[in-house]
Amino acid sequence: MIGVFDSGYGGLTIFKYIEESLPDYDYIYLGDNARAPYGDHSQEIIYQYTKQAVDYLFAQGCDLIILACNTASAMALRKIQQKYLPKYYPGKKVLGVIRPLAEAVGQISNSSIIAVMGTNSTVESGTYINEFADISKSIKVVQQACPLLVPIIEESREDHPETELILKGYIEPLKKQNPDIVVLGCTHYGFLEGKIKKQFGKQTQVLNSGEVVAQKLSEYLEKHSILVKKSSDRKRVFLTSNSSEKFDKAAQKFLGRTIKSQTINF
Ligand code: DGL
Repeated sequence: MIGVFDSGYGGLTIFKYIEESLPDYDYIYLGDNARAPYGDHSQEIIYQYTKQAVDYLFAQGCDLIILACNTASAMALRKIQQKYLPKYYPGKKVLGVIRPLAEAVGQISNSSIIAVMGTNSTVESGTYINEFADISKSIKVVQQACPLLVPIIEESREDHPETELILKGYIEPLKKQNPDIVVLGCTHYGFLEGKIKKQFGKQTQVLNSGEVVAQKLSEYLEKHSILVKKSSDRKRVFLTSNSSEKFDKAAQKFLGRTIKSQTINF
């Protein structure tokens, strides 16, 4: 079974593409909506929250967990992979989303100007800058923290008029740098992809994070096929730490089908 974790709804923008390209697995999605946004918490808090989610998902029978959350990937993944898993879950895997996105950009071009939009934590961590530096010295990264966007998504206010204005405030400074590619360095922003694309205009490519992560995951599972068993049950379980009614509404809107989630307590 594969676990997909996010601080809230954002990971659904990744899960949608993962289940489309890899339907023959069982999945559990866990959104820690009650404690979102993560992006303004300290590294220690983000690590503790992510560790709780990882424990919960492994206890449900997951063999592999995707941290479909850039903030958790930036602030907690390394410690989980290097310290926590070897001690408590040897043989199980936790993967993040930042490395695959950086690699995908590197495959498109290794000398571009890349704009990264993300949470305060992700931007301040410098994780994207470091990952891109690993891939090519001629990639120039310009970053913009967009702290108001996660609350907008968690409150399902994507289509309210103020959202366009808030986006403009974040996107205008990036546009002045003439980026070739935009990375949505927060999975929540996938809910605003259409609006973000429109504001950048046709000359800038906005990378679809869900497609990239799904593609990289299927390559990973091809190489590590014994890690997770395929399943004809195609189980889909949705868990949230907040109201399940609220989760179902938001998830339904994005996934285009009826979702019945369960509320959990960590
Ligand atoms: N989806 C998370 C990310 O990709 C949002 C973080 C938050 O809760 O602030 O960064």
